[in-house]
Amino acid sequence: MKRLLIVEDKESLAAMLRETVESEGLEADVASSGLVASRWLAEGRQYLAVVTDLRLPGADGIAVLKQARESDPDVPVIVMTGFATIENAVEAMKLGAYDFIQKPIDVDYLLLLLRRCREHRELRHENLLLRDEFQKRHRLPAIVGDSPRLVELSQAIQRVAPTDSTVLLQGESGTGKELFARAIHQLSPRRDRPFVAINCAAIPDTLVENELFGHEKGSFTGATARQLGKFELADGGTIFLDEIGELPLAMQAKVLRILQERRFERIGGAATIDVDVRILCATNRNLAVDVKEGRFREDLFFRINVFPVTIPPLRARREDIDGLVDFFLRRFAGELAKPGLRISDEARALLRAYDWPGNIRELENCIERATILCDRNTIEARDLNVVPNERASEEGLRDAVDLSGTLAEAGERAARIVERLKIADALRRTQTRNEAADLLGITARTLAAKMKEHGIE
Ligand SMILES: Nc1ncnc2c1ncn2[C@@H]1O[C@H](COP(=O)(O)OP(=O)(O)OP(=O)(O)O)[C@@H](O)[C@H]1O
Ligand SMILES: [Mg+2]
Repeated sequence: MKRLLIVEDKESLAAMLRETVESEGLEADVASSGLVASRWLAEGRQYLAVVTDLRLPGADGIAVLKQARESDPDVPVIVMTGFATIENAVEAMKLGAYDFIQKPIDVDYLLLLLRRCREHRELRHENLLLRDEFQKRHRLPAIVGDSPRLVELSQAIQRVAPTDSTVLLQGESGTGKELFARAIHQLSPRRDRPFVAINCAAIPDTLVENELFGHEKGSFTGATARQLGKFELADGGTIFLDEIGELPLAMQAKVLRILQERRFERIGGAATIDVDVRILCATNRNLAVDVKEGRFREDLFFRINVFPVTIPPLRARREDIDGLVDFFLRRFAGELAKPGLRISDEARALLRAYDWPGNIRELENCIERATILCDRNTIEARDLNVVPNERASEEGLRDAVDLSGTLAEAGERAARIVERLKIADALRRTQTRNEAADLLGITARTLAAKMKEHGIE
């Protein structure tokens, strides 16, 4: 199968797409409207892949997508989208689109997608088992979240991934810098070559050079054989310099040279070695400040700051929390054989209100811990050990409390929730009920009555 269906009403773009496709040795049926495409699909024409615009005269791109997948459930459909139709693109992904590509069309990225479609199809025809293998190998790490900031980030990453540009990922600890770095590699033409990660903060200063560049036999006592460094191991692929802000100054000069000349020497080696690597960097420091204070070379900073990507902390995109909770709950419930484990609305509200200083990693750990500890089928607020900060929890309260009715009525509802949380909290912090009652400033009898009222065991 070498034929693609292209659905695009703008003639110049359609011609460009046809040319691109043909340059890959493929053929194309170009439909200028959804109706024409629909007729061809109804005739039973089979395609390697479908590339369709979303906004079309006649039947729109979503209709084309649906019809194409009905006639061939395995056909990859790539949706092209303008700025105005990003939301529809998300909808298209939910309906099973293979990927979407933003206008103006990045030809390299389109070619990359087409190659992947082709491999996908070929393997599908060869062997189903093989295809599973393929998907595992090529699987993009799941990046969960649909807050505007995360969507914007994903788009930036899709654009920069197919290039060889150096990307600097910035963000607090646990925001997903490594995850994004892996995604960039997976979305790049280097994805079949190694992805080599190196944590500059984890290696003692004296060993960094050896780790990065390797050594020749006999270059120092104990160097009994030649050893390749990470840069050589990453040849053809991607190297990820994590915590680059921790790189000693002397090593910064050597990394700068690699960025400029793509060459280096092993320790004790006379030969200069050329490497072809794509460099991704990450830091949770403010490198601009480090530059000012002389801890980081300015020239290196400029070299790596070509395409800075800043991942916002989780508290700045609380809309993502719910989706992440579901994602981790599904994962851990699966891993820990607790199918059907749910989480209460109150617990969710608590998670949404919390500030997450450790970001997504902290949320991940929190859900894992709750999944392990919970011996019922619903995770309750008291199973979580998070304490919301007051200001942020206003938003959470808005979700948790039904604000209808009079001031007194809403206040009473809020008070009930606070009471329940407070009691659960006191019980968790203390060993006996008497101690808990003391902490709450009530008698043990009142505590017992209130626990009964709230259904707390
Ligand atoms: N958007 C996301 N969707 C799903 N999982 C995520 C997302 N962002 C981060 N994670 C997960 O959160 C954890 C922390 O992410 P990662 O290790 O990439 O963070 P980091 O920024 O490199 O942190 P550090 O600075 O501490 O090294 C990982 O398990 C990662 O898979
Ligand atoms: Mg990291």
